[in-house]
Amino acid sequence: MMFSRIAGTGRYLPEKVLTNFDLEKIVDTTDEWIRTRTGVERRHHVADDETTSDMCVEAAKVAIDDAGIDVSDIDFIVVGTTSPDLIFPNVATLVQHRLGIPPCPAFSLEAACTGFIYALTTADKFIKAGEATCVLVIGAECISKLIDWSDRNTCVLFGDGAGAVIVKPSDEPGIIGTHLGADGQYKDLLYYPAGASKNLEIAGTDDAAIIMQGNEVFKVAVKTLANVATQALESAGIGLSELDWLIPHQANIRIIQATAKRLGMPMDKIILTIQDHGNTSAASVPMALDVSVRDGRVQRGQLVLLEAFGGGFTWGSVLMRY
Ligand code: COA
Repeated sequence: MMFSRIAGTGRYLPEKVLTNFDLEKIVDTTDEWIRTRTGVERRHHVADDETTSDMCVEAAKVAIDDAGIDVSDIDFIVVGTTSPDLIFPNVATLVQHRLGIPPCPAFSLEAACTGFIYALTTADKFIKAGEATCVLVIGAECISKLIDWSDRNTCVLFGDGAGAVIVKPSDEPGIIGTHLGADGQYKDLLYYPAGASKNLEIAGTDDAAIIMQGNEVFKVAVKTLANVATQALESAGIGLSELDWLIPHQANIRIIQATAKRLGMPMDKIILTIQDHGNTSAASVPMALDVSVRDGRVQRGQLVLLEAFGGGFTWGSVLMRY
């Protein structure tokens, strides 16, 4: 049986850093409140003229270099994002053109913060089906452009960035199992109200900004992320103690701690970037993977569980030997 395996990783964070102290000057908040309630200390934000595809290109270059491949080897591109440059052409085609990748399937998908898990799962399936041999998978977001900067409930949480991986076929796992899910009954708890076919009149106004019922999102996130991890491990017949690393979506340190408690997982086996990145939606898991690979914590052959949860709600996991 053919498996797929991550051959290289990369990330890009915009230059501009916004600390909690910077936010104290913008809304009625404090560094102490943000740190204790969310775990975020700083986040990166794009420049006014910087876009999601700009970040994707930089993250992809690092992953391509890390995998030791040439752009001409790439034969499939999938980008998870909810903040595309344009409605169309999709971000993946913009990245393809900018990097000089030859014609191949290239698309982006929207699954909010679960976007990268959906994208990586798609890559895994196309490789296993024998229809792709070198896939560029990216999770990227410009969430700072979707925020109401007078709403302290949301503006302190989010950051921008991009994480990329190269996925190739392998005789051995690699990716062991993937699980995706969604339940649209929760659509009103976390959403962005302006689109391409609804509420067009508010696009570009102050009303076009993320709307979130934080408390409700928190409760469902904890329950779902614990269930997702349990499902991934049980279906692979792997015990929690065998897992080397959990890389969860970085939404809130308290969500991650509560999930760990439910699972009975020690926090020192969980990769945390929330303090430096904030919630970067679809970029959070691939950036945390890249951070932990580059600092030497995640090593080849180790058992790693990636999981995410986001607006929709959507959720998913990828269990793999790195
Ligand atoms: N600074 C200071 N006070 C703030 C604040 C801020 N940035 N944001 C909210 N508050 C206030 C609220 O107005 C409220 O004040 P009140 O009691 O006078 O009404 C108080 O803090 C408590 O608000 P509450 O919403 O109960 O806080 P919380 O402990 O639930 O934390 C979140 C709020 C948003 C941090 C938390 O609910 C959360 O992280 N939810 C999940 C969000 C998420 O992860 N979304 C993305 C999912 S992918």
